[in-house]
Amino acid sequence: MRKELLKIKTRKSLNNTLGGRAFILFIFTLLICVVIFMLHSVATANDKIFNKCKACHNIEEGAKHKLGPNLWGVYGRDIASAEGYKYSKAFLDRQGIEWTEDNLRAWLKNPRSFIPKSKMIFNGLKKKQDLDNMIEYLKTKS
Ligand code: HEC
Repeated sequence: MRKELLKIKTRKSLNNTLGGRAFILFIFTLLICVVIFMLHSVATANDKIFNKCKACHNIEEGAKHKLGPNLWGVYGRDIASAEGYKYSKAFLDRQGIEWTEDNLRAWLKNPRSFIPKSKMIFNGLKKKQDLDNMIEYLKTKS
C-alpha cells in the first residue's frame, strides 16, 4: 500500500515539475528524430534501386534525356512517347501500347525478349524482389 502511494506521488511530481515536462519533451523530440531517420533511410533505399538505370536514364520531372529517355511518369504513359527522344524503330513500331504494370514487368525482367532489337542494352532484373521494388519506385515517379 505504501509502495503504491509512493509510485503515485512520484508520477504526479514528474508531471508537475519542470523536470518532468522537460523529460516528456525530450522523449517526444527523440521520437520525432527516430521517425525522420526512418523516413530518410527508406528514401535513400528507394533511390538506390535506380542506380542500375542511372547511367542511361534521368527520372526527375523535366530532366533531359540521356542515352535513354527521361523516365518521369513512364508508368501509365505510352511506349515511345517521351517528347524529344529518338527511339529505335523497334520502339516506334509499338507506339500506342501503354506501359502498364504487366508490360513494365515483362520489359524490365527481360528487355530483349519483350522488345527485340531495342537500343536498351540491359540484361534485366532477375530477382522478383528487385522487380517489385522497381515497379513501386517507378509508380512514385509521376
Ligand atoms: C545502357 C543504357 C540503359 C540502361 C542501363 C537502362 N536503360 Fe532503359 N532504355 C535505354 C534506351 C537506349 C532506351 C530506348 C530504347 C529504344 O528506343 O530502343 C530505354 C528505354 C527504357 C524504357 C521505355 C521508355 C519509353 O519512353 O517508352 C523504360 C521503361 C526503361 N528504359 C527503363 C529502364 C530501367 C528501369 C532501367 C534500370 C533497371 C533501365 N531502363 C536501364 C537505355 C538503358
